Amino acid sequence: MLRRPLGFRDWPFNSNVKPPFYGGVSDPKFPMKIETKDDLIEEILAAWKDRIGDDYLGYRGHVYRMFNFCLALHSCTEEEKTKLAIAACFHDLGLWSAHTVDYIPPSVFEVKRYLSETGREEWSEEIGLMVEMHHKVRTYKTDRYPLVELFRRGDLVDFSLGFFKFGIPPAYVGEVKKAIPNNGFHRFLIKGARQWFAKHPFSPPPFMKW
Ligand SMILES: [Fe+2]
Repeated sequence: MLRRPLGFRDWPFNSNVKPPFYGGVSDPKFPMKIETKDDLIEEILAAWKDRIGDDYLGYRGHVYRMFNFCLALHSCTEEEKTKLAIAACFHDLGLWSAHTVDYIPPSVFEVKRYLSETGREEWSEEIGLMVEMHHKVRTYKTDRYPLVELFRRGDLVDFSLGFFKFGIPPAYVGEVKKAIPNNGFHRFLIKGARQWFAKHPFSPPPFMKW
């Protein structure tokens, strides 16, 4: 059987393949400009600004940082970039749309509603999975929708404050964090985690998936 050679597009979904471009941000091949204002992200988040309230700037920053980390992990087509922008905006939104710690189902609900309202139903399954699986602890294995695992990794880079990088140069992670300030997002996460473990000391929060 003829197999095509592994290459850029296979990484990071195949661990045998080295990351494509990492010599650091000064590496002329490093393609990354930092996205701090994306029309689609701005449009989607603006519609939720009042509901998100005081946490808006913190959440907006998290959306942009994880979006940038996803783009650093993989050279995306415009279509992939649009899918990532939509998933990024909605992935934690259930925290404010439904005011619950079990926020993944309402986040999936809201992103699917948005996709249907904007005539993008054909992306519903894929983007629904990107949101649903983004707190999976282990790798999400799929040949069909590689963006699901990419998105999980991008979120984890920011969620872990850069402890996990999946091959992104530390200097680039630092640049993104500097360009897009935290605005209390991790303080907000820690407060939520404390409240959960005070009530349920022996159970992981419901948004974690094994
Ligand atoms: Fe997140």
